[in-house]
Amino acid sequence: MNPASFIGRSLVTWKDYSSEEILHLLDLSIAEKAKTRSGEVSQRFVGKTLAMIFEKRSTRTRCAFETAFGEEGGHPVFLSTQDIQLGGKESVEDTARVLGRMFSAIEFRGFKQATVETLAREAGVPVYNGLTDQYHPTQVLADVMTLKETFGKVAGLKLCYVGDGRNNVARSLMIISAKLGIHYTVVSPKELRTDEALIAECTPWARESGAKIEVTSDLSGVAGADALYTDVWVSMGEEDRKEERRRLLAPYQVNESLLAAAKNPACVFLHCLPAVKGEEVTTTVIEGPQSRVWDQAENRKHTIKAIMLATIPGRGYN
Ligand code: CP
Ligand code: NVA
Repeated sequence: MNPASFIGRSLVTWKDYSSEEILHLLDLSIAEKAKTRSGEVSQRFVGKTLAMIFEKRSTRTRCAFETAFGEEGGHPVFLSTQDIQLGGKESVEDTARVLGRMFSAIEFRGFKQATVETLAREAGVPVYNGLTDQYHPTQVLADVMTLKETFGKVAGLKLCYVGDGRNNVARSLMIISAKLGIHYTVVSPKELRTDEALIAECTPWARESGAKIEVTSDLSGVAGADALYTDVWVSMGEEDRKEERRRLLAPYQVNESLLAAAKNPACVFLHCLPAVKGEEVTTTVIEGPQSRVWDQAENRKHTIKAIMLATIPGRGYN
């Protein structure tokens, strides 16, 4: 893997990264974690700036980008929709051109995938998708890192996502699983199934990597899972669907009996967080011995740092 191949690249989804490239970023993330844990301090973003645009709220993503960049000597600038004109008085294209002249890289969290793609096309600097309605790519690298730490490998594992199969996390997990040879099963009510278009897009990657992609409404689909993953029933921006989601998803709660239905004592529980305890997951499961959610949260920072080190020109690994 030539590190130069990452320089200047954006991350809007994992679709345009090869399996080898994703595995390389995974290795860098693991190396960064070891480095942080050893207490080694470095200043690889000195003289660099990061624009962090947030249309939606965030704890982990914001803090991961801001601390990963800042502690390496870079200057992160947080920009909410109260601060900038993005898409309102000023077009996304013009905002991208201006920020691209002032910043070394841009992070965007918001509603439309088209916004982050326009920023990536127009800014001339790396743009990172910190979550849109459709995708959450930085999250799933941390998830896969957590699997690697737990099982020592990722290819051949069975990852089972239970809940809203249409959401950003479920969809990004499908892409990264297909690329990395992880058997991925989505268990969701038929009204909330992952769209056929994404499944069709992932199919050739899965064929190449040996991943099996399955979508079912049947809870017995969790059998044999190495990891059970869930996410909130109501994603940001969909608050008006709360009652409908509770009705559809109540049978899909991850509780002790569903964890037992995996029939695998080594099965771990994953959640991107924030969690609504008592809805998609019980307190017993999320606080229980099989839960790895706090490792996942920590790994957001190491993976995001690795992505920035690899892609921002003139720093870190390139
Ligand atoms: N998992 C995640 O993206 O968390 P935040 O919404 O807090 O950033
Ligand atoms: N699906 C959730 C993920 C939060 C990190 C949401 O979009 O709100």
